[in-house]
Amino acid sequence: MPVGVIARYRAHLPIGPSTPEVDLSEGSTPLIRSRNIGRALGLRHLYFKYEGLNPTGSFKDRGMVVAVARALESGSKVFMCASTGNTSASMAAYAARTGARAIVVVPSGAGRAQGSQPQIAMNKLSQALMYGAKVIALRGNFDFALETVRDLTSHYPVALMNSVNPARIEGQKTAAFEIVDALGDAPDYVVLPVGNAGNITAYWKGFREYHAAGKATRLPRMVGAQAEGAAPIVDGAPVADPKTVASAIRIGNPASWEGATSARDESGGTIAAVTDTEILSAQIRLAGSEGLFAEPASAAPLALLIRLVRDGKVEKEAVTVVVLTGSGLKDPDVALKNVEPPVELDGDARTLAKVLKL
Ligand code: F0G
Repeated sequence: MPVGVIARYRAHLPIGPSTPEVDLSEGSTPLIRSRNIGRALGLRHLYFKYEGLNPTGSFKDRGMVVAVARALESGSKVFMCASTGNTSASMAAYAARTGARAIVVVPSGAGRAQGSQPQIAMNKLSQALMYGAKVIALRGNFDFALETVRDLTSHYPVALMNSVNPARIEGQKTAAFEIVDALGDAPDYVVLPVGNAGNITAYWKGFREYHAAGKATRLPRMVGAQAEGAAPIVDGAPVADPKTVASAIRIGNPASWEGATSARDESGGTIAAVTDTEILSAQIRLAGSEGLFAEPASAAPLALLIRLVRDGKVEKEAVTVVVLTGSGLKDPDVALKNVEPPVELDGDARTLAKVLKL
């Protein structure tokens, strides 16, 4: 099997003979069949696309490798993005690998006191820093950070690496190809989280292209999950102060808004909001009954699927793919708030057995 997204899907990507070769062996993530949740929901064909197994722990690597290759081709040596964490981790890794300079702008929260922490998951921050990026925590939310980065990159010789860069969408669409390649056709439903809305746009593009190329006989319905406090597309208006425990999708004015609504409308799908409580309970259920630890944003689509099944909106025979966009290891702080802490014990095997009721 070719290594990396570019080698595997070169013919479908904007890659020419003079594009430099870049890879971190991203993509080719497993499509894991549900053992327990599907049965409990009465769904016979439920799968999880486990994107947390990408080299930096999220789906962002698929688009980043293409964007970085194209930026290097055009002579760029400085990359910049605004991020809720995963994009910055990914960009920083590929910049490190190719010797480019990485500048990351993360939200530090609006109107907070001096010394406040970046409003992104700690392990994502540690990735960007370890890969050697310069990290700026800009006062304000993600939407302001992106606006600022777009402004700066339009005036300076710095490559914009957010998903408004079309190469990002091109790379990310390969996840749709992989799903069709694994199943032999497109599924009935693809359920995924929606933040800045690049990924739902990319998946829909991927499915349409594979369909047009005769690699799939049908198209899936695209189902997007937003968090209730950060659901501009569901509300039909930007959210000035988005709030949700799922920091990856804490976005009030998605850059690819139109791409998301087109994917929804053209596919006959839906975009709906789930509460933080639903997200956290889906996250624990996924870990505890499937052995799949995904970050909170990645649990949002499962939360939505559970609701749609309860409301009788998904047929039992439907082939459904839930995209787990990022690893649970990205955000241990949120996860640890929702589980029992370890039991501290001073004793021997006998006392241990007693405590364990063996
Ligand atoms: N899931 C995860 C784990 C994410 O990190 C993101 C976005 C999404 C879902 C939503 O994808 O933005 O294409 O709709 N994270 C971006 C970032 C915003 O900066 O890492 P989207």
